[in-house]
Amino acid sequence: MNEMSTSSHAVELEADPVCARAPVGLLAELTHRCPLQCPYCSNPLELERVNTELSTEDWCRVMRQAGELGVLQVHLSGGEPTARKDLEEIVKAAVDAGLYTNLITAGVLLTKERLQRLADIGLDHVQLSIQDVDAENADRIAAYKGGAAKKHEVAGWVKELGLALTINAPLHRQNIASLPRIIDYAVEVGAGRLEIAHIQYYAWALKNRAALMPTEEAFMETARIARDAKERLKGILVIDFVVPDYYAKFPKPCMGGWGRGIMNVTPSGRVLPCHAAESLPGLQFDNVKDRGLREIWLEGDAFNLYRGTDWMKEPCKSCPRKEIDFGGCRCQALALTGDAANTDPGCSLSPHHADWAKVAREESHNAAPDFIYRRMAAKPAS
Ligand code: SF4
Ligand code: FES
Repeated sequence: MNEMSTSSHAVELEADPVCARAPVGLLAELTHRCPLQCPYCSNPLELERVNTELSTEDWCRVMRQAGELGVLQVHLSGGEPTARKDLEEIVKAAVDAGLYTNLITAGVLLTKERLQRLADIGLDHVQLSIQDVDAENADRIAAYKGGAAKKHEVAGWVKELGLALTINAPLHRQNIASLPRIIDYAVEVGAGRLEIAHIQYYAWALKNRAALMPTEEAFMETARIARDAKERLKGILVIDFVVPDYYAKFPKPCMGGWGRGIMNVTPSGRVLPCHAAESLPGLQFDNVKDRGLREIWLEGDAFNLYRGTDWMKEPCKSCPRKEIDFGGCRCQALALTGDAANTDPGCSLSPHHADWAKVAREESHNAAPDFIYRRMAAKPAS
């Protein structure tokens, strides 16, 4: 992102040693509807239906409250946010609230006229996801014919309209060989930033792990390519490289640490500390229809449960890195060890790490199974 605007309405909140006065970012999942079916989608397996989605008025109120709280950036996401007919009104509310607006989109539903309208309203930034530069493979991964060609066209419109552009390229064993060409593509379309994001394995990606996991050798090669490109393209393209947890020594501070920097609002208005938090059993989530964002951020049970470091068990509890990575990812710890308060098995100090890394090594060397595509009907709501 190039530029950010701060809210002039930022409220004075009590300073707290483990809780920032306000989250930096609000991830607004406007809808779970999406014409693409990527097998690594970060949406939950139980997708929220259209008839449960927040109204235009609800979303506009959320934007106002975010501005008042002191949030800096709103990431308008999904699903596919352009599936909402009222996106223009929501963007306007966000702009009026003083938020830096980032549209996270697959692009395939956009028209140039609509993008122009959004730019006129004040949209700042577009983050466009691509599946591959090989169009046939890209369309296979997304299960959407013609998607790759449309995305290329959309990238051109974004630049033409003077909006900041990030290309987001999730990387896995079925597109990993394209990395050099993905970097060239980002330069060619004039992106300011490229996110080379090795898949994070929860939700749909965990279901498809064996189809997506690259070998460690292939991962190491991508790290080398990304490092070289960063050097070579200094001043032209900023490259963010997200390491897959399975081959890392220490985990990432998921969401920058639980309840530290991000609020995630689901299509139906539930407010989560991370997009996969609904997978954690026993957590109650506040809804923006019942409570204001400020109160939820400061007092919500779900936000306070794993905030800071008091909840930690060993080895995190006495680890010098505990305020660097905050024990990694709670959702991954639950999915892979059965206890969300355990150290993320992505950490080499976790007692679960060796078994877990072995699974990745084995799966990545076996033949890839077919994708289980993200579909509304793939896991019926219970
Ligand atoms: Fe991070 Fe916990 Fe591992 Fe230490 S033990 S590096 S705090 S995940
Ligand atoms: Fe939930 Fe990492 S995805 S804490």
